[in-house]
Amino acid sequence: ATAPDPAAVGRGAAQACCLDDYERFAADVLPTPVRDFVAGGSGTETTLRDNRAALDSVHLTPRVMAGVEAADPSTRLVNTAAAMPVAVAPMAYQRLLHPDGELMLARAAASAGIPYVISTLSSYPLEEIAGAAPTWFQLYWLRDRAVVESLAERAAAAGCSALMVTVDVPVMGRRLRDVRNAFALPADVVAANLATKVHQAHTAVPGLSAVAAHTASAFSPTVSWADLEWLGARSDLPLVVKGILDPRDARRAVEVGATGIVVSNHGGRQLDGAVPSVDALPAVVDAVGNSAQLLLDSGIRSGTDVLRALALGASGVLVGRPLLWALSLGACDQALDLLRTEVSDAMMLAGCADVAAAARLDTRRACG
Ligand code: FNR
Repeated sequence: ATAPDPAAVGRGAAQACCLDDYERFAADVLPTPVRDFVAGGSGTETTLRDNRAALDSVHLTPRVMAGVEAADPSTRLVNTAAAMPVAVAPMAYQRLLHPDGELMLARAAASAGIPYVISTLSSYPLEEIAGAAPTWFQLYWLRDRAVVESLAERAAAAGCSALMVTVDVPVMGRRLRDVRNAFALPADVVAANLATKVHQAHTAVPGLSAVAAHTASAFSPTVSWADLEWLGARSDLPLVVKGILDPRDARRAVEVGATGIVVSNHGGRQLDGAVPSVDALPAVVDAVGNSAQLLLDSGIRSGTDVLRALALGASGVLVGRPLLWALSLGACDQALDLLRTEVSDAMMLAGCADVAAAARLDTRRACG
């Protein structure tokens, strides 16, 4: 992890007009294997591309003369006040992007007034990150149940206010960019919450990147509904289940006590060919109604996308990659400011005074 080139940071700060701009500027400062690790999806990247195409095909019908002087995008996500209906998605190894990694992005989330989700695979210890911001903790189900239990306890003790269990990684999706690059973590980037040294332990498994090899050895492919109930019984924190696309699974998650569900295909990084998460959302909304809060991720890139998610019945979104690109430029505060401006502008343009009005907007799918 190297400090970003000041000239590139300046450019990012001065010229970014939308979240996608950070990806372009980040390309100037990041080594190709790191760029590919962040940008990539699995297989032929069909789902990665289709996430965007599906969001673009959701058309909103704005309301006019709604008498809105200033839109108020504030809301509550799970049990946390949020200045806009956005949380920072859990993402592993943020020191790959900037030496201050998770600490920098979490502080920016705190300044922007939105929750930051700490990954199981964070490269700073969860306790340090939780000290910097209002956080939730994302849990991968590890083969060693004692480690799962201890992570949940550590998260609660550190002040994280929710547990987000990611259930779409029985194995890691085959990310061909990482395989081709023989992607491995540099020595100074570690899974700081775990004892295993990912970069040292797994560099020589044929056909797997080091990160995928670590996942194969450490993650349990058989996490079950009973396991979630077991966790719920041991933790006072609300459970959010991340990585659901089928309404039957959504109903099941509610039955085992989930407070929230993230409708997600992991940003196109898991099952290639999986349905775009925005396409899966309406049936999940019908299945769970008000019995759990629904969040959407995978491809959210603008205020309009946030409004699309709200209009289709989500309570909010997670944003992933754009914030890592901004982190590589040291521009997280600016990126979140930009997103907040976009969200309130989109609400104004659609005649929505608040998130409840956004939920009442009509949508249509573009044909073709
Ligand atoms: C992720 N994601 C992820 N999810 C999770 O539950 N735990 C994790 O540790 C990670 N790590 C991770 C690393 C990187 C580099 C990326 C890009 C993504 C998935 C993430 O939480 C989210 O679902 C997607 O990134 C959302 O899609 P967008 O916004 O990146 O398109």
